[in-house]
Amino acid sequence: MGGSPSLPEVALSTDRVVLITGGNTGIGYETAKWIAMRGARVIIACRSEERAKSAIERIQREFKEEKSKGAVGLCSSENLTLEFMALDLSSLKSVESFISTFKAKEPKLHVLLCNAGIALHPQEYTEDGFEIMFQVNYLGHFLLVSKLLPLMLSSDEDCRLVFVSSVAHRTASFDLDKAQGKHHTKENFKRLLYYGNSKIFQIMQMYCLNRRLKNTNVAVNSIHPGVVNTELDRNFLDVNYARVLLRLSKIIHVTKTPFEGAKTLITAAVNPQFKDTRDAYFVNMKLRQPNRLARNQQKQEALWKYSIDCLKDFLKEEDLEFLGKV
Ligand SMILES: NC(=O)c1ccc[n+]([C@@H]2O[C@H](COP(=O)([O-])OP(=O)(O)OC[C@H]3O[C@@H](n4cnc5c(N)ncnc54)[C@H](OP(=O)(O)O)[C@@H]3O)[C@@H](O)[C@H]2O)c1
Repeated sequence: MGGSPSLPEVALSTDRVVLITGGNTGIGYETAKWIAMRGARVIIACRSEERAKSAIERIQREFKEEKSKGAVGLCSSENLTLEFMALDLSSLKSVESFISTFKAKEPKLHVLLCNAGIALHPQEYTEDGFEIMFQVNYLGHFLLVSKLLPLMLSSDEDCRLVFVSSVAHRTASFDLDKAQGKHHTKENFKRLLYYGNSKIFQIMQMYCLNRRLKNTNVAVNSIHPGVVNTELDRNFLDVNYARVLLRLSKIIHVTKTPFEGAKTLITAAVNPQFKDTRDAYFVNMKLRQPNRLARNQQKQEALWKYSIDCLKDFLKEEDLEFLGKV
């Protein structure tokens, strides 16, 4: 999109480990590519090995093309490092097994980008019994973050955790008794509302985490990437108003390319200007304020307790002690 601010030409240390969920396509793909091309080691966590491998091959090809065009700020060819690790956020067992694999391999984690997501999904429940957008967008990431935070805290300075939220958080309501939408039928399930809820929960989690991470090396932020032309519409092509709005946005060029959408996530993840920035909600690479509901501390803490309760079979005594203490 014309007029969007540009990214700084930062070089990233090859020791820096960046983990991105859903990095095989869309905003995640462009973010993984940009960061890897500047030298950091990027781990793409997603559910399909085939899709991840083809994304990595595409990044390697595009890197060579950029190099041959003489693009500035790129790392050397031997430092372009991308890896795949299997993660399906709709299964808490998969999240658990991802965490064990990750911890066994990686002694450090500097940047964690909670990007994977699904939007306006029809009513569906995961094998763990949670509404699917609640779990994939929010709760699965909550478990991931809870178990990887100790690693980030023992890594180097300027560690960053970023939630890819959405302007749709403004459509949310807050009623934890109805958080799973089980009182709805398939026909009257409000897909936008539950998407918005999952996105406001991410922002609320950001505030809870920052309260617990004060004076540490880990800062937590959130972003809205804009309206971006990605595969996100795959679950809502049957929703008339969403399809029409999306088509209209494309016609009047309001939609961003995945790279333009990724710029805000890249900014929050690595721009040195935002080292030590916390509790920020970035839109179009600038700081904006999320809505009043997202900023309600009492509700944030109620959500924190609710989430821990949802994860009681997956959080051990030591995790609970850590989450209570940090
Ligand atoms: N596009 C927009 O206009 C827009 C606006 C606001 C916010 N966002 C947010 O931006 C983020 C990225 O979305 P996008 O637009 O880039 O969409 P996308 O192209 O559909 O990418 C979504 C990514 O999430 C992954 N994913 C989906 N379900 C998963 C699961 N169960 N476990 C692990 N990974 C899973 C997908 O993997 P597969 O390829 O395997 O499905 C894919 O890599 C999302 O959180 C979305 O809510 C997007």
